[in-house]
Amino acid sequence: MSAVKPEQYPAEDLPEIAFAGRSNVGKSSLINMLLNRKKLAKTSGRPGKTQTINFFDIDQKFRIVDLPGYGFAKVSKHAKARWGEYIETYLATRPNLIQVFLLVDIRHTPNEHDIMMYDYIVGAGFEGYVVATKLDKVKNSELMTRLNDIKATLGVAENHLIIPLSSANRKGKYKFWDRLNAMFKAAGYDIHFERQVQEQFWLKQKKRPKKR
Ligand code: GTP
Ligand code: MG
Repeated sequence: MSAVKPEQYPAEDLPEIAFAGRSNVGKSSLINMLLNRKKLAKTSGRPGKTQTINFFDIDQKFRIVDLPGYGFAKVSKHAKARWGEYIETYLATRPNLIQVFLLVDIRHTPNEHDIMMYDYIVGAGFEGYVVATKLDKVKNSELMTRLNDIKATLGVAENHLIIPLSSANRKGKYKFWDRLNAMFKAAGYDIHFERQVQEQFWLKQKKRPKKR
């Protein structure tokens, strides 16, 4: 379901977690990866794909909310202000929103828009979780440097608040689900994502069985 104004939002009956971040950072791709779907959330190599607040209903148990990307240069001032308002209104007024994740590209130092968004999220009372996307694009030897740079720039308080992952090779997927499971539990919800043992096995083998 897509919405821009509160009166268009779905009912407040299910807990929601939201993904915020700059255009092209990989918000929609992360949703597809987490849910093992290729095109549930529409993705694009061109920034500015998601322009509304999109609510994804998961088994009538909770929702993942894909927010419009910010900081995309080729958008009119008017449209930028409008999207900013959509995001702020949602974050500030949604009572069933239990956590917001700020996504940043692991390769880049967060810019002033990211810092503003992060301060806004923490100021609104959320934990301040950061997802560092596109982990497949950095070498293992660079990982700590990149994470430390992002943490220092945004002012992330604790190590456990930053989560590196890749939607391309699915690295970090189950760690992220563990985090979500813990979050639901802490908020008093009976929601738990089970690991798919078979999938884990084939990931380790780096090949999948032939289709029959
Ligand atoms: P907007 O809707 O414009 O706000 O963008 P978005 O944050 O939803 O980004 P989207 O998921 O559409 O991805 C943008 C581009 O980055 C696409 O070309 C994706 O294929 C690519 N991408 C996303 N995640 C990853 C990743 O983990 N690794 C790599 N290599 N590419 C990724
Ligand atoms: Mg998107």
